[in-house]
Amino acid sequence: MKAIVTGTSRGLGAAIATTLLERGIPVLGLARQPNPTLTRFGVDCTQSALDLSDLAALTHWLSRDEMARFLADDDAVLLINNAGTVAPVGPLGMQGSAAVAQAVSLNVAAPLMLADTLVTASPAATDRRILHVSSGAARNAYAGWNVYCATKAALDHHARAVVEDGVPGLRICSLAPGVIDTDMQVQVRSSDETRFPARERFEALKRDGALVPPAVCAERLVGYLLSADFGRAPVGDLRELSAR
Ligand SMILES: NC(=O)c1ccc[n+]([C@@H]2O[C@H](COP(=O)([O-])OP(=O)(O)OC[C@H]3O[C@@H](n4cnc5c(N)ncnc54)[C@H](OP(=O)(O)O)[C@@H]3O)[C@@H](O)[C@H]2O)c1
Repeated sequence: MKAIVTGTSRGLGAAIATTLLERGIPVLGLARQPNPTLTRFGVDCTQSALDLSDLAALTHWLSRDEMARFLADDDAVLLINNAGTVAPVGPLGMQGSAAVAQAVSLNVAAPLMLADTLVTASPAATDRRILHVSSGAARNAYAGWNVYCATKAALDHHARAVVEDGVPGLRICSLAPGVIDTDMQVQVRSSDETRFPARERFEALKRDGALVPPAVCAERLVGYLLSADFGRAPVGDLRELSAR
């Protein structure tokens, strides 16, 4: 088994990569920055520096068959589309078209491109699993987060439609991970309240110790990803799965 994980430089993606590597599953990590803490896993961890919001760069990287070389002829392959951004925060007219394009590229186009390439890059695989890291924001609308809400909802609907294709041996789930104690939450708490009126709710979650440590979230997420139940529903919430 081998895994491709995006956004491995920090936060949830770093914790997912660590959890997989600790279970002996080699990881190809993609992010703009390398993660020095993953070098302790030696050859099991390959890191490629890539800006996933730069679709020309991603297209070029995909054309170099690095995914196929990494996956080789493994019969079980995982793709965890974790990298994402909450920016731009604010209502229409306060976002900036470049920031909108960057968010849609990173949060939607890159995961969909990687998912498509996973299938061609793993012809020998009989077990392919794709996990999109979604968000509660895909299912609940928040003022100031219309780009984030729309991009995460796109991942949810992508998963539902992929299931309809019935690709043999392919399972997919778009999973909301809960609220995690990462840089993204620091960014959320530092949002301008006029742009993001729900800011106080996220400040309270931090004050109340309600944020989940990335390692705890990653352990649950990887447990679900590797379980027989994975993909039974195309869309899920880790908080509900963990509560069962
Ligand atoms: N934290 C939460 O409470 C929460 C809740 C629900 C859902 N999520 C979702 O969980 C995922 C991980 O979030 P997080 O909290 O771990 O975020 P984070 O701490 O901000 O980390 C984001 C990761 O994505 C990578 N990334 C960002 N822009 C990139 C780009 N242009 N190209 C390649 N990689 C890029 C970053 O690496 P580089 O900067 O090195 O590129 C980093 O490794 C996201 O999809 C987020 O939407 C988080």
